[in-house]
Amino acid sequence: MKNITLHHLSALKRQGEKFAVLTAYDACLANRCSDAGVEVLLVGDSLGMVLQGNDSTLPVTVEEMVYHTRAVARGANGAMVMADMPFMSYATLDVAMDNAARLMQAGAHILKLEGGAWLAETITLLAERGIPVCAHLGLTPQAVNKLGGYRIQGRDDESARQILQDAKALQDAGASMLLLECVPAKLAAQLTAAVDIPVVGIGAGSQTDAQVLVIHDMLGISSGRQPRFVKNFMAGAGSIQEAISAYAGAVKDGSFPAAEHEFE
Ligand code: KIV
Repeated sequence: MKNITLHHLSALKRQGEKFAVLTAYDACLANRCSDAGVEVLLVGDSLGMVLQGNDSTLPVTVEEMVYHTRAVARGANGAMVMADMPFMSYATLDVAMDNAARLMQAGAHILKLEGGAWLAETITLLAERGIPVCAHLGLTPQAVNKLGGYRIQGRDDESARQILQDAKALQDAGASMLLLECVPAKLAAQLTAAVDIPVVGIGAGSQTDAQVLVIHDMLGISSGRQPRFVKNFMAGAGSIQEAISAYAGAVKDGSFPAAEHEFE
């Protein structure tokens, strides 16, 4: 794959073409995803759950994210590498700058931070220093204790309005991308149309500019009950490579997610 840039992803949004994002935590699967045409590899702090067996992402450290980001960057082969800044690693501006530098030096091309308009100053500071940011809105797993569980966000008018306002404020602050998790499909469609930067969805319906899934979920190897928005692409596939290609193809032709994967 040629090197995927923010410029390329913005052009896809303008042209109404969708792109695929998947989590990756090692060089081998990063390579399989890149070969399948997945444009963005997310080194998600979900690794704290799927690799480490924790019940939340909170225990994940910057050291662990640096380790996995290095591995994914080695296997990315032209795909864009997005690394999560883990819990409390951007709690103050100074802490954010130090940790962002470590993740970029490990090979990330863009960093993902969870939160609303309160992140604006951090995003501006990072963007001014050449660090692109994807802001994660809706269900923000690092705030699971405050949210009272992994719940759909933006279902009532007031919280939907707040998410829309946050998205615009973060775009104005200099965010290069947004990620929207577990919100009603209607709200996600409205938000995607309201901003110029690409919006990646997970459990946010079919109208976002891109989709992301946790790779263990789409390969059907995660334990426990799977959320409504997950589809097992390994079912019917002959190999992991085929399953990842089927996922990338389904995102790009708009057949995933289907109505059964959306929230109202
Ligand atoms: O950490 C992660 O993998 C994520 C996705 C669930 C979007 O943030």
